[in-house]
Amino acid sequence: MSAQSKARRITAPDIRARKGGEPLVCLTAYDAPMARLLDPYCDLLLVGDSVGMVVHGLDSTIGVTLDMMIMHGKAVMRGAKQALVAVDMPFGTYEQSPQQAFENAARVMAETGCQAIKIESGTYAADTIAFMAERSIPVVGHVGLRPQAALADGGFKAKGRTSAEWQRVIDEAVAADKAGAFAIVVEGVDEDLGREITEAVSVPTIGIGASAACDGQILVTPDMLGVFEWTPKFVKRYDNMAERTSAAVERYAEEVRARQFPSSAEVYALKRKDS
Ligand code: KIV
Repeated sequence: MSAQSKARRITAPDIRARKGGEPLVCLTAYDAPMARLLDPYCDLLLVGDSVGMVVHGLDSTIGVTLDMMIMHGKAVMRGAKQALVAVDMPFGTYEQSPQQAFENAARVMAETGCQAIKIESGTYAADTIAFMAERSIPVVGHVGLRPQAALADGGFKAKGRTSAEWQRVIDEAVAADKAGAFAIVVEGVDEDLGREITEAVSVPTIGIGASAACDGQILVTPDMLGVFEWTPKFVKRYDNMAERTSAAVERYAEEVRARQFPSSAEVYALKRKDS
């Protein structure tokens, strides 16, 4: 057995079995080098359609395509060796019918080699989740604040502000669970609702802005690393990469202009072999 093949890849049943146990550690990833760095610490890496906003500079996730997700999914699979890799299905690639969802999800799985897909799942999506799960596609649901619905909702708004909305989010989670999702992302709800959803479903809830009552947590990696000036309230910055990157690039620019870089340490010293 090679050193590389020793770490067994985490599977959908492994994640499902973590309900109520040690919290699941999850982050988003979009490229191979970052996936390699995150992989040893994470149970699940999500190739989120947030890639449209945090990598491609779009205003929302609406412009993200299946081809973009496949390209980033392949890169993450090259970097991650033990975490389960789930790829987000972008807007317009799964909502029309269970058949459309299956066809596109099967393509994502076949072309990237990922272990699961995620869909943003209103109650309408239960049939789609069931259709895919029954045909051996491991599905993660996503309820509460659903970024693909931001235009219809009038922005990225936390959910559960009225009793009807509160109940709707619980219904979405229960529907995803009953339909066969093996985990459910819960985004943008308060602690009471996060706890109620977690208690109402049989599979792990993965919270993002949904409190520690969930069975695990996920954050958008560039947010938690401090790449952006603005982040949502629920993000904790574990670093300040924006400041550190600016400082490093400022130093590089000064040294190039002063001809201090490259120094002899960074220059080839070739022995010429002239005949
Ligand atoms: O696209 C994404 O990054 C996500 C997370 C917010 C869970 O869906």
